[in-house]
Amino acid sequence: MELVVATKNEGKVREFRKIMRDLPVEIVSLKDFPDLPDIIEDGRTFEENALKKARALAIFTKDVAIADDSGLVVDALSGSPGVLSARYSGEGATDLKNNLKLLTDLKEIPAKDRGAAFRCAIALVAPNDFEEVVIGECRGSIGFEIRGNEGFGYDPLFIPDGFDKTFAELGMEIKNRISHRFRAIKAIRPVLEKFFYVNKKDLSF
Ligand code: IMP
Repeated sequence: MELVVATKNEGKVREFRKIMRDLPVEIVSLKDFPDLPDIIEDGRTFEENALKKARALAIFTKDVAIADDSGLVVDALSGSPGVLSARYSGEGATDLKNNLKLLTDLKEIPAKDRGAAFRCAIALVAPNDFEEVVIGECRGSIGFEIRGNEGFGYDPLFIPDGFDKTFAELGMEIKNRISHRFRAIKAIRPVLEKFFYVNKKDLSF
């Protein structure tokens, strides 16, 4: 059976394929549904946005759908940028502008109070009303300068707990072992197994 993932990002699709490779599903991406109307991400939480996207996709495709939403929550900013992570610096936002705004907003904040977390919600929605959402989190802190070239988004500022380098310096191999997205993908796997079990699709795992 098909499982549709609400992203055009091939990297994310690859991550899903990898962790679910022994399940009887074929993962297809949004690229296979060019006619799907744009889904507005206006939820107050990552969970709300992930559910909204997965619901829309499940209705449109009449198939089981998975969607994710992720971002950075900074303790000293009461959880900002949160669901606005991609658009933090306003119209025409880029990763660099977002990072510079974050540095400015934390200018007065000492090292001990620069705690933050990357968070990723993944929702699974089936046309028969089966719905579940899970969260993956990676805690760390925000550095004082942009460092490193790998990754994207806030990676050059985010220093995961237990390391003294940013995600952008540590590189993909380490990031993919501890990231919020990896943890959320791991958490959604038993949900998918439960879905198959409840629906008696395939009990061979
Ligand atoms: P999305 O869930 O792919 O839409 O991500 C929303 C925004 O959150 C991105 O544009 C980034 O700014 C930020 N973000 C999410 N995940 C990561 C990550 O793994 N590294 C750095 N930034 C991230």
